[in-house]
Amino acid sequence: MEQNEVTVQVPMNIALVKYWGKRDEQLILPLNDSISLTVDKLTAETTVRMIEGVGKNTVEINGKNVELSSNKRYQTVFDEALRLQRKRKELSDSNGNSTSISHYFQVISTTNFPVAAGLASSAAGFAAIALGIQRLLNLDDSQANRLARIGSGSACRSMFGGLVHWKKGEKEDGSDCVAVKTCDSNWPDLYCIILVFNDGRKKVGSSEGMRRTRETSTLLQHRIESIVPQRIDEIKKAYSSRNFENLAKVIMADSNQFHAVCLDTSPPIRYLNDASWHLIELVEKFNEEQGIRAAYTFDAGPNACVIVQKKDAKQFIDAVLKTIDIPEDDLKLAGEELSETFRPS
Ligand code: PMV
Repeated sequence: MEQNEVTVQVPMNIALVKYWGKRDEQLILPLNDSISLTVDKLTAETTVRMIEGVGKNTVEINGKNVELSSNKRYQTVFDEALRLQRKRKELSDSNGNSTSISHYFQVISTTNFPVAAGLASSAAGFAAIALGIQRLLNLDDSQANRLARIGSGSACRSMFGGLVHWKKGEKEDGSDCVAVKTCDSNWPDLYCIILVFNDGRKKVGSSEGMRRTRETSTLLQHRIESIVPQRIDEIKKAYSSRNFENLAKVIMADSNQFHAVCLDTSPPIRYLNDASWHLIELVEKFNEEQGIRAAYTFDAGPNACVIVQKKDAKQFIDAVLKTIDIPEDDLKLAGEELSETFRPS
């Protein structure tokens, strides 16, 4: 029985200008462009096995089996991988008739960050599966990018290091909807500090949230048309000229607008909790003292990612740990996470 196996390590990414809303839910085509930083120290190490024969696909994350019947996106990725494999076989077969052989997949993934904490873990996970399948099937980069995207939209941004621009594209088949690395030189002095404020409350998943916002928010259209394109340009300019102040202003404004759009949804979606707000206030105070030196950003959950320059990381961490405003439980969790800082590639 033929069995191919590959192990890859893929980092998570944090969006600086957020993706929120799909124009095609099947192909996962976004309504707007987005831009992210790849956080190279937070990774999903993933083994992908492609096994010949009839069997059940399985996915294990940090020792726990994922229930695939309620997580259809894995099946979508595996089906697409087998479609690409069949296509390749047909092309290489001179008479055009290929005998179809069944295959199934086993995925075993370990992350070095908490997956339940809503820290864009699916991005690293699906990007790792896509990269593994790319290696096993010799796919080109655009095919791998698409595989990652149909697993979890933001995953396509984890296929590159540094600053990554995911272009929404215009075409219906999604062929021009791709993530590309932007800005040749990285900014190695940028650190991401992750603070886990998970309050255990059930949050609205990103697919459901995006659908609801798209159907009910009147702010969303304004954001897509008039705000996002300008912000993408501003991030690129600030990053390439290493202007931290300008970069930070756009990051915080976009995080705030994303959460405003969520509140403008019916029924409204609230992802931030009291601890998230304490952190926002702390960053504002920190920035008042000696100029803008820290930028917060929040995805679809209460946990914060704070971007600072290396020179300010320690002082910022000390300021957080000294803060008495964060409820005791959250402070404990935050303290654990803050023992280290993570640097994007
Ligand atoms: O890729 P998804 O379905 O997990 O959606 C990600 C949405 C945000 O994290 C809120 C924003 C983003 O651009 O990553």
